[in-house]
Parts: sequence; C-alpha cells; structure tokens
Amino acid sequence: MCLVVPAKLFVLLIVFEVCNGYNFNLEDIFGFVGGLKFNPAEYLKVNKRDIFFNLHTPNYPYPREIDEDNLDLVENDKPVKILLHGWVGNENVRTYQNITREYMKKGNYNIIHVDWRNVAVLPYAVASVCSKDVAKVISSFLLNLNEKKRIPMHQFHLIGISLGAHVAGLAGKQIKEKLNTQIGRITALDPAGPLFEFPPAKESEKLTKYDAKVVDVIHTDGGIVGALKPLGTIDFYPDGGIRPQEGCPLIPVEKDVGDSFFCGHYKAVEYFIRSINSKEFVGVQCKSWLKFKLGHCKGNKDNIMGENLIPERQGSFYLVMK
Ligand SMILES: *[C@@H]1O[C@H](CO)[C@@H](O)[C@H](O)[C@H]1NC(C)=O
Repeated sequence: MCLVVPAKLFVLLIVFEVCNGYNFNLEDIFGFVGGLKFNPAEYLKVNKRDIFFNLHTPNYPYPREIDEDNLDLVENDKPVKILLHGWVGNENVRTYQNITREYMKKGNYNIIHVDWRNVAVLPYAVASVCSKDVAKVISSFLLNLNEKKRIPMHQFHLIGISLGAHVAGLAGKQIKEKLNTQIGRITALDPAGPLFEFPPAKESEKLTKYDAKVVDVIHTDGGIVGALKPLGTIDFYPDGGIRPQEGCPLIPVEKDVGDSFFCGHYKAVEYFIRSINSKEFVGVQCKSWLKFKLGHCKGNKDNIMGENLIPERQGSFYLVMK
C-alpha cells in the first residue's frame, strides 16, 4: 500500500515555499504541488500489471517483453543486468539504449529494461512512497528467475537511476529477507535525495549498503536532487558529487529550466555509460572533497568508477572530471 505520510508532505510544502523564493518554477520540476493535491485512493495499489520487463540479449537485439511465466528467452549462463529508470523516467528509452549498446560491445549479457512509468509518472512524493511496491514486483520477478531459470542471486546486477536506485535497494532488501542471501550488485546512479536523505527515511525505506554484496554509488547532484552521504559499499564523488558538474550550469538557465536543473543529476548516468568499456575514471579514497582538493589524500588507495570497479576496495572515492 502506498500511503503518503502527512509529515513528509508538510516538509515538502516548506521546501516548496522556501524554493519558491528562486526564480524558477519548482512546481513543474518536482510535481510537489501535485503531491499535495493527489487523491490517495487513486494510487493505493501497484500491481504486476503496472510494470513491464523487456529483455535484450545478443540473440534478441530488439527488446522482447517477458514476464514471470515466460522466461524462456533468458539465457541462464549469462549475467543479468536490470535497468531501472527514475521518477518521470520517460527519457529512459535513450538511456536504456545507450547502456545496452555499451554492454553489447563488452560481452554477453541478459539486459532487462524495467518499465515502471505507470508509477513513475505520479507526483514525486507519491512515486517515492510507492517505490516499495514497485520493488515487490521486481523482487518477485528476480525470485522467479532464480527459481525457474536457476540463475544464482550473485548474477543479478541492478542498475537504478535516481528514484530507481532506491527501488533497486528495496528489491535487494526484500530478496535478502526472503532467502537470506544478497543479490550480486546494485549500482545507484545519483540516488534520489528528497524524502530519502532529507528528511531522512528509515533504512528499511531506502537504499543501503546491505542491499547487495556490492552497492556502488555515483553521486553527481548531492544535496539537491541526489543524496550526498555515502549509501553504498563504494561511493564515488566525481567533482565532489555536487553541482555544478562538467558542462552544467550552477544556476538553471532560464530558457531551459528543466534540463539545466537536472543536468548534473544525469551526469551519473552519462559517466556510468562511459565507464562500461573503459577504466578511465579513477577515484582516490578520501574523507571529503575539500581534503581531496587540498591534496591530503594523495597516495591513498584508488578505485575505478562505474562498471569495472574493484569490489574489495570499499569506501568513498573522489575524482576530478573537468
Ligand atoms: C545516447 O548516446 C547518444 C550517442 O552517443 C548521445 O548523443 C545521447 O546524448 C545519449 N543519450 C543518453 C540519454 O544517454
């Protein structure tokens, strides 16, 4: 059941009021007002029919819809990458295509594109509360793959963008509760901050480092759209993990408010896509961006950001992209 907690809405209302002092229209950007106006009865239940799974393999380069009762096309000797878009998420098609294209260059995978837009189009506050129910559909799908196709849990790699990162975490948690085993990996691409980091949600309601064997996070808009604090076993902070990111304005450009507001947020996705077939982004372990910039962390252990990371090297890693 997705019920929006009134206290959270109250905080949102305050955030909305504060942010309205700026010159851009947050009403459009976050759907906050929509979150206040919605009729709970309309959105109470998320079920299997709201969420679609499309499979992409080297043998089936055009995604085919699959479901729990129709898993024949999944190739059980290959790792499974599961892509989860974020809130609104209608730009996901190109993102999914780009991630898939890079994986197809790299090797043989089952790539599953999750389409949960029926929930993701709801106002942000509603979609975020419903993420637990979306995760249930996904964990049930993975349990089926595990049972019917004998794909071990460590073969699953969930890649979640923004709100999708928390959906991935919640799905990982549900599997752990059920089987007492962790999935292999969750990659969180600028996991959503509002209603998860600020105000802080309980560990049972959001992505944590316990939700998979490896939980790697790329922070690019920490403290605004994304979360700033470490959430994974390995957290990467390109350019400090905060705005402005490379090629993004610090203040949204008036003629293009929406895109420029989210520019840094989507950098995590871009960096991840570029990381799939390279090892070019190397982060150095450090306590903070300031210490890193002052050169206090030279010689510390390092790690490769993105797909090709070294799982054993845990901690927070900083790197310069510009
Ligand atoms: C996808 O890749 C194309 C070509 O490299 C690029 O122009 C586009 O910006 C990318 N889009 C996304 C959403 O990653």
